Amino acid sequence: MPVYVIVGASRGLGYQFLKTISEQDPSNIVIGTARTVEKAQEKVKNDGLKNVHIVHGDMDDHASLTAAAKKTAEISGGVVDYLIVNGAYFAIPALLNAADDYVGKEDLFLDELRQIMHTNVAGTLFAFNAFMPLVLKSSIKRVAAISSAAADKNYIFEGEDKISLHYATSKAALNTLVAKFAARYKDDGVLFVSISPGWVDTHAEDDIPKELLDKVTEPLYRFDKGLKGPLTPVQSVEKCLKVIDGLKKEQNGEFLSQHGNKVWLVTK
Ligand SMILES: NC(=O)c1ccc[n+]([C@@H]2O[C@H](COP(=O)([O-])OP(=O)(O)OC[C@H]3O[C@@H](n4cnc5c(N)ncnc54)[C@H](OP(=O)(O)O)[C@@H]3O)[C@@H](O)[C@H]2O)c1
Repeated sequence: MPVYVIVGASRGLGYQFLKTISEQDPSNIVIGTARTVEKAQEKVKNDGLKNVHIVHGDMDDHASLTAAAKKTAEISGGVVDYLIVNGAYFAIPALLNAADDYVGKEDLFLDELRQIMHTNVAGTLFAFNAFMPLVLKSSIKRVAAISSAAADKNYIFEGEDKISLHYATSKAALNTLVAKFAARYKDDGVLFVSISPGWVDTHAEDDIPKELLDKVTEPLYRFDKGLKGPLTPVQSVEKCLKVIDGLKKEQNGEFLSQHGNKVWLVTK
């Protein structure tokens, strides 16, 4: 009965990780961190997921993640086999700006940069460091961060994606952070990966307005002319879990797609 921890599991892909892993095998122990514990617990209860535990954790607050790791150890007997850091900030107030749109808006650039690097990069480092003592006790030792193809240079060029500067930059930094952790823990047998989950329809329940989302997804159709639409969260999570399970030593620290390679979208 492997132990899975999903950091940032309240909704979207994070919650789907909890649900899929829970349903795959009732003997799995699944722990999700959330900023609002009660809301996530209610979803877990409504879905009848008996092997899922929700603990408080905010990626902006390293002490909360240390506390989450302590609670996790009490639930799991001190071991974490799979750690998946999923939560992210999207810098919505700056999402549609290209680089030169920040001339005269330097404060907006800096404010959003501070927040997004705090949550997506520092938050991942806080989570990795908090849970690493538990991962090191596992015989499986798999660690993943959910990244984005938005950080890939070929995607940026072929999709002519000039917007989402903060988001793409934070995910590029995240990929480097993952490689650094892979180098640090190589001799301990921990395998790290950053995974782009593909384009996934998770925004129905959150606060990105449709017109904004349409603009952000335009480059996807330029990049992949045959693209038929987003994956469902179920499809994406199943693919990501396969990548994590099938990870080879030679891939340690790599940035991979949901297909386990550099094919970022569905049909390309
Ligand atoms: N959907 C896509 O097409 C797509 C594509 C590429 C990459 N991704 C990546 O996939 C991951 C999940 O995205 P999603 O589409 O599922 O987004 P989502 O539905 O908006 O969910 C975002 C999640 O991040 C959590 N979060 C935000 N700030 C946090 C913080 N400070 N501490 C802890 N958790 C925090 C949110 O928790 P709260 O409920 O507390 O806000 C929520 O659970 C992200 O890393 C995203 O960059 C998604």
